[in-house]
Amino acid sequence: MSFYSRVIFPRFYDCLMDKPFWAKYRQQQLASAKGEILEIGVGTGLNLPHYPKRVKRITTADPNPGMNKKLERRIERTGIAVDKRIISSEELPFDEGAFDCIVSTITLCSIPEVEQAMAELFRILKPGGRILFLEHGLSPDAKVNKWQRRLNWLQRRVGDGCTLTLDVPKLLVTQPFSSVEVDNFYMEQTPRTHGYMYCGVATK
Ligand SMILES: C[S@@+](CC[C@H](N)C(=O)[O-])C[C@H]1O[C@@H](n2cnc3c(N)ncnc32)[C@H](O)[C@@H]1O
Repeated sequence: MSFYSRVIFPRFYDCLMDKPFWAKYRQQQLASAKGEILEIGVGTGLNLPHYPKRVKRITTADPNPGMNKKLERRIERTGIAVDKRIISSEELPFDEGAFDCIVSTITLCSIPEVEQAMAELFRILKPGGRILFLEHGLSPDAKVNKWQRRLNWLQRRVGDGCTLTLDVPKLLVTQPFSSVEVDNFYMEQTPRTHGYMYCGVATK
């Protein structure tokens, strides 16, 4: 793993995303989290303060150990017990049906084999289990879409592998979810190329 990925990116992204307007959406999205919870791409733990009080314990999966320092601090502050795994979502060491709830915020864009990861998430969800997601992706607006494709090479470098062109609906139909509810909007205070949001719930 490069110096940029381990040392620079965790600080850079944390500073960029630790903002009240993001916090508002994190809180809304996590309000219904319950049961056995897995958060993929936990990063520096920006979601931790937004889990409802009933959540005492979660499991996390993130391959970047450079996130750990800030993550540990947030774990201490929130008091949630975290089973922290340094692993990628493409191959998860959990049994079929192990989780009631999977949380993914601004993470699918960074997963190299994202379809494989989605198959894993589906596998480890219980029947009736839910993925709560808040993701950015490809915009349906032609002008924005064009700029997302133009800027993607730069985003991939600066964003440590993050793509601006993830087709979230196309990804979700790769698994036989019983229902998928999605809200789309442009995130405030964010360039349209980077802030076309897919916020919703996919139920197994
Ligand atoms: C932009 S950060 C978002 C972090 C956090 N979810 C948030 O909302 O602030 C993307 C995260 O995805 C993680 N990631 C990258 N590849 C991954 C993979 N294959 N499986 C799981 N997480 C991955 C990165 O290490 C990083 O922590």
